[in-house]
Amino acid sequence: MRLFYDADTDPNLIRGRRVAVLGFGAQGRAQAVNLKDSAVAVSVGLRKTSASRPAALAAGLMVAEPAEAVAAADVVVMLVPDEAQPEVYRAVVEPRLPKGGALVFAHGYNIHYGRIRPRADIDVIMVAPNGIGEQVRAQYAAGHGVPGMIAVQQDASGGARALALSYAWAQGHGRAGIIESSFKEETETDLFAEQAVLCGGLTHLISAGFDTLVEAGYAPEIAYFCCLHEIKLIADMVYARGIAGMRESISTTAEFGDYTRGPRVIGPEARTAMRALLGEIQNGAFAKELEAEMQADKPVIKAGRAKARAALIERIGGELRSHMGQPKR
Ligand SMILES: NC(=O)c1ccc[n+]([C@@H]2O[C@H](COP(=O)([O-])OP(=O)(O)OC[C@H]3O[C@@H](n4cnc5c(N)ncnc54)[C@H](OP(=O)(O)O)[C@@H]3O)[C@@H](O)[C@H]2O)c1
Repeated sequence: MRLFYDADTDPNLIRGRRVAVLGFGAQGRAQAVNLKDSAVAVSVGLRKTSASRPAALAAGLMVAEPAEAVAAADVVVMLVPDEAQPEVYRAVVEPRLPKGGALVFAHGYNIHYGRIRPRADIDVIMVAPNGIGEQVRAQYAAGHGVPGMIAVQQDASGGARALALSYAWAQGHGRAGIIESSFKEETETDLFAEQAVLCGGLTHLISAGFDTLVEAGYAPEIAYFCCLHEIKLIADMVYARGIAGMRESISTTAEFGDYTRGPRVIGPEARTAMRALLGEIQNGAFAKELEAEMQADKPVIKAGRAKARAALIERIGGELRSHMGQPKR
């Protein structure tokens, strides 16, 4: 697969446009400030009541209400939460974005699952950072960048792909590497990775390990350090050196246990479950379930948060972290 770098992009394309970033949360804050530092004309669209207005103004950004920001722009970046995007598109963007304008997403969900069906006379592109907002900004400010993924869903102008590359340049992605993908591929792989590995998989692995030790009579503090705290050390090694490099850096005992015991925890059953999760993502069952959850005002999410806060691993962890200069929650 070919990767694109700064030299493959034309910074003047995005510098020649007027960009409205809707939202000033995790991604909005990072991307708006990066655009300003890349000498792109940018304004931030925020509701009158938004608590983020002072921060956006303090960052030297122009701030307007979402409808005003869109009316003055020809590129609109959707950086409000995914669940809010369909209504923001319908009420704010669709009636105002001029013909030939561009709509930019950082995640393909709403387009892929048809929650937003954009007008045919605009470009629809994705520039998805491979990192959280904080990293997108911090890496850019340090002269680096996080990798990014671009995709084109609709090319009304004939220049959508070049514009996506140019926007990715303004976010510093061209310093680390830009991959070309599709809304479908980005959405399905992103959902799968967060469900099976990064969020769902990891948290349940940690909790199961912690509970097993505590049930067997070991001290919860020791179980916390072994099963949760040390995750960062291993994750840092995997990030820096890959799985093979990490294994060569740990003790021989740990490495032998990895090869012989790891597959008993993540065995054929776990792989079957992963394939089932992927199937639900591909056939839209997960998206349907998520929509019902949102319509019912997030009962599963609220119950999950309350249960997690009350769990022993959180009570023990909060206390231990407070002595390590880390936030209690
Ligand atoms: N979080 C990440 O690091 C990350 C990583 C990769 C991709 N993404 C993608 O980036 C996009 C943005 O996600 P995010 O996590 O950055 O969102 P977020 O932090 O939850 O966004 C919060 C911002 O959205 C505004 N907002 C919320 N509802 C709104 C509405 N109905 N109308 C107008 N403004 C509204 C909020 O304004 P108020 O101040 O008025 O509440 C706030 O400024 C999503 O597509 C997400 O999938 C996020």
